[in-house]
Amino acid sequence: MDCFDELLKKTAAFGQEQLLRFWNELSAEQKKELSSEIDAIDFAALADLISKYVLTSNHNSIPGDLTPAPYFPLDPRNAEQKELYLRASERGEELLRAGRVSCLTVAGGQGSRLGFDGPKGTYPIGPVTGRTLFGYFAESIKRAGEKYGKKLSWYIMTSLLNREATETFFKENNFFGLASEQVFFFNQGTMPACGYDGKLLLATKSSLSLSPDGHGGTLLALRKSGALDRMAKEGVDFLSYFQVDNPLVPVVSPLFIGLHDLQKSEMSAIMLAKTGPFEKLGNFCVTGGRLEIIEYSDLPAELAESRNPDGTLRFIAGSPAIHLISRKFIENLTSGGNLRLPWHRADKKVPYIDDAGELVTPESPNAVKLESFIFDAMPLAKQTMVLEGDRKSVFAPTKNRTGVDSAESCREMLIERDAKYLEAAGVKIPRTSEGKVDAKIELSPSVAFDAEDVAMYVKAHKITEIARGAEICLE
Ligand code: UD1
Repeated sequence: MDCFDELLKKTAAFGQEQLLRFWNELSAEQKKELSSEIDAIDFAALADLISKYVLTSNHNSIPGDLTPAPYFPLDPRNAEQKELYLRASERGEELLRAGRVSCLTVAGGQGSRLGFDGPKGTYPIGPVTGRTLFGYFAESIKRAGEKYGKKLSWYIMTSLLNREATETFFKENNFFGLASEQVFFFNQGTMPACGYDGKLLLATKSSLSLSPDGHGGTLLALRKSGALDRMAKEGVDFLSYFQVDNPLVPVVSPLFIGLHDLQKSEMSAIMLAKTGPFEKLGNFCVTGGRLEIIEYSDLPAELAESRNPDGTLRFIAGSPAIHLISRKFIENLTSGGNLRLPWHRADKKVPYIDDAGELVTPESPNAVKLESFIFDAMPLAKQTMVLEGDRKSVFAPTKNRTGVDSAESCREMLIERDAKYLEAAGVKIPRTSEGKVDAKIELSPSVAFDAEDVAMYVKAHKITEIARGAEICLE
């Protein structure tokens, strides 16, 4: 029996019956596809979002009382803080040894700026071997597990669009030496794209134009996928969160983990001193007594540019999107199967099927996509903590093809970090007159998780010097 009447009633009640205009041309299979997509939509809730974010021009307003957020500095300010950092590092190591930490990577984005066809994590970034982003994280996670004597689980969020390709990639690479049970894939939700007239768009005659609902979807997806239950069973209480685009990230950091725990924080963040007022990083702010990250595109220019009397930026703290999140916090936020984070509007060029049934590829933005952001959970936490990170050893994002935050700049930073490790271990590194490393160096995270590992490796292999112009990978 055809379910057309029911679908028509459901969609027409919210002025979305255009979704069915090719119904009579569809095969039974296609009808099934379209009806299951329509069934999955809560049209009443969506109608509210459309009227709030699509049909009006006044969306998320920026609070008027923003002040810069406090943070723990990279170098402890006094003896008391030094002692706290030491205790925190010990506590972090203890939690790692007890298996109470897992890693969480958000990899559901479409990576459109990089112009790479495929899941972003499969992008070859290693300066010598082309080791992939996923390869860097996997090998680091494996080595961290060996170091702390407890295997770490790795939760990877994908979207409907890249799940299959991501899983296949892991299988083809034998999970990079991890046990397959260590890796848990889960899907984030999707949101339909909406034209400026408030009408949902069709990607084909039998499917809606759907896109990932933003990394804010992670929290609910962790619950719905059973990941939270799995963590509880495994005794995991903390998630070390990072983005798929940053191969320099320490997948776990004892100091960060320990400080999160000692400060009884529910959600913590690493901050970096911004390179300039408009660096494309979220900004750590306080509003109404709560910590909030205001996205770079939303921070008013006069605040971004405001300076302290000594000339430094007032809003200096930028987010590399590295977090520590307590499992219990996620459980509380998502209890009842709901989580209300604010939505953010993005204007995009979205291909669609027009009334004549033709595919239109627009040249300027024609539609709105709505996303929620995980860092909007920070103001919901009873306690938060922000720790300054050392940019050169935690952050090298691969976002663009060239220039700032590109694959090219990322490779340079990976080489520089690895060269520093080798220099600290007594190896002579060739440098140009400007101080740039004059060789291509890549350290496998399996043998070089941290400075201590590198020192051991250098000693065991009696490495004293890297030749000028060399291309060398230490495995
Ligand atoms: C992001 C942060 C920004 C931070 C910067 C650091 C947002 C909105 N902004 O900017 O505050 O300073 O990184 O590099 O995130 N993702 C999903 N599902 C989605 C959308 C994204 O998993 O639906 C993942 C991506 O795969 C990626 C990460 O989230 O790992 C960041 O997404 P992206 O859109 O690249 O954010 P940026 O604008 O670079």
